[in-house]
Amino acid sequence: MSTDPIWEDTTTGADVPLTEDIAPGTANDPPAGSTEAATLTVDGQTVEASVGSTLLDACEAVETDGDVLALCSYDDEEQIGPRSECRTCMVETEEHGVVPSCSFPVEDDMTVSTDTESASEARDVNLDLILSNHNLLCTTCGANGRCDLQDVAIENDVEEPRYGVLHDRSQLEPIDDSSPFIQIDRNKCILCNRCVEACNDVQVEGVLRMEESGGETRIGFQNDADTMMDSTCVSCGHCATVCPTGALVEQGLVDATTLPVPGFTHKNSAEGIVGEDYERQRTQMTPMKREGDTRNEPRVSRPEPAATAEDDWL
Ligand code: SF4
Ligand code: SF4
Ligand code: FES
Repeated sequence: MSTDPIWEDTTTGADVPLTEDIAPGTANDPPAGSTEAATLTVDGQTVEASVGSTLLDACEAVETDGDVLALCSYDDEEQIGPRSECRTCMVETEEHGVVPSCSFPVEDDMTVSTDTESASEARDVNLDLILSNHNLLCTTCGANGRCDLQDVAIENDVEEPRYGVLHDRSQLEPIDDSSPFIQIDRNKCILCNRCVEACNDVQVEGVLRMEESGGETRIGFQNDADTMMDSTCVSCGHCATVCPTGALVEQGLVDATTLPVPGFTHKNSAEGIVGEDYERQRTQMTPMKREGDTRNEPRVSRPEPAATAEDDWL
């Protein structure tokens, strides 16, 4: 049986009803937080951790020696994550070796180090892997200047990801511009799952999902639609609010950033674009944006089309 408290082998235990101990919003996630309060050391500093804490919580309580990036982590209280997808939060513990801090429960007397060679190298490799699978055309991106991935790459002085950069236009997926509210550029997606949980677990709309596997993994739609417009999206905007990159942005944000080369925009940065021919394109704001409850404030606003009787459903 595994000694890892996250991945403890439960297959030999008594049958447990599926619904037991499943917290809202985390039905598919392993239990992450501690079940008891704990006192531990992080980089030699004593941390008192409360019930429900993870190693990332403990690291955030002190000034750590190493920079724990934690790219796919989001606010637990909003029922999003931890999903332990990106592995940019690795730290080294005396007790369990190198572990993902965002999901690892604190334990009493644990000794955690953030700047050992193993932990730093693990975080760096994983950041380089993410960057290498990401279209790094930042200056035309709708999230330029407000992107978590861009921030951590700059903070970590990444000049060139060791595994190359995704820049071959023929390898890029078309941008999904079909929805009047949300634009999807899967070339920017880091597969963090935040949007999927925001849509399914918080909004309870059940629109998004992860589909395919391995290198083909991508965000898709639960109704098997090919485009956002054909999905069951209600345009609440929550997915775009939690996305740490420019993969999901609210329409109107795109083209708001600098365009260093005339004529080269986000929309023509990829090989193709789908959904431009939908007739009912609108540019109204989502309810979330109207309430100002969004991280991404547009810098350029477009004139809204005159309302018609057909707009009443909004
Ligand atoms: S806008 Fe709302 S309903 Fe649509 S995909 Fe995003 S979170 Fe789901
Ligand atoms: S679209 Fe954004 S939030 Fe969703 S998985 Fe990709 S990077 Fe994460
Ligand atoms: S933040 Fe821990 S795996 Fe992504």
